[in-house]
Amino acid sequence: MLEIENLGKRYGRDENERWALKNVQLTVEAGEFISIIGRSGSGKSTLLNLIAGLLKPTIGEIYFQGNAILNLNDKDASQLRNTKIGYVMQGYGALDHLTVLENLCLPFWLFPRKGEPRKRAEQLLKQVGLLEYADTYPTKLSGGELKRVAIARALMNEPALLLADEPTGDLDESNTKNILALFRDIADQGTSVLMVTHEMDALSYGDKVYRMEAGQLIK
Ligand SMILES: Nc1ncnc2c1ncn2[C@@H]1O[C@H](COP(=O)(O)OP(=O)(O)O)[C@@H](O)[C@H]1O
Ligand SMILES: [Mg+2]
Repeated sequence: MLEIENLGKRYGRDENERWALKNVQLTVEAGEFISIIGRSGSGKSTLLNLIAGLLKPTIGEIYFQGNAILNLNDKDASQLRNTKIGYVMQGYGALDHLTVLENLCLPFWLFPRKGEPRKRAEQLLKQVGLLEYADTYPTKLSGGELKRVAIARALMNEPALLLADEPTGDLDESNTKNILALFRDIADQGTSVLMVTHEMDALSYGDKVYRMEAGQLIK
């Protein structure tokens, strides 16, 4: 469902130029849970931002469900992102003036679509162990709780592809296990999961593990 061919990203120019990603090849099947492990600075977030369409590559192609997505105009690219992709970005990203439940529902209000967002939001909050915080404001939550809000929010649109950037970095052991089991579960239901991490213990849940080293992806 996702094919990446010879993807490369260069930052800077002239003597400052630096390839953050080089010659990346990757295929992700529907329902596959792939983990990428790599040190800080190895290019993991750059790869996910390219797939999410938030960055443009210097070279290479990305095919999503058979379509070359790099040629899409901004409107179609954001449509794809809003309907087919869930992205747990590095950081938290909750809006402080909305409750946890409202944070989850917001994309549904901005881009109306089928379904009952409140019900789905409550179900997801239950799955990440935060239902009791539905009406709480993000400023009252810990880092780990905010991360779980971000994970629930990324799953709201029932994405075909979930991108997760170090999703368990702020979580304790029991929440880490719960989130990885949730990812395993949604992969078993057909969502492809692409998770990057620098934590070894996150790796046992995936179908395949790659290593990112200085911008190169190694099986
Ligand atoms: N906007 C940017 N401008 C210049 N260099 C960047 C930018 N974003 C990331 N980099 C560099 O690209 C490399 C890869 O970064 P990143 O993808 O964030 O790695 P990771 O997520 O594995 O920590 C790093 O050397 C980083 O400093
Ligand atoms: Mg990163």
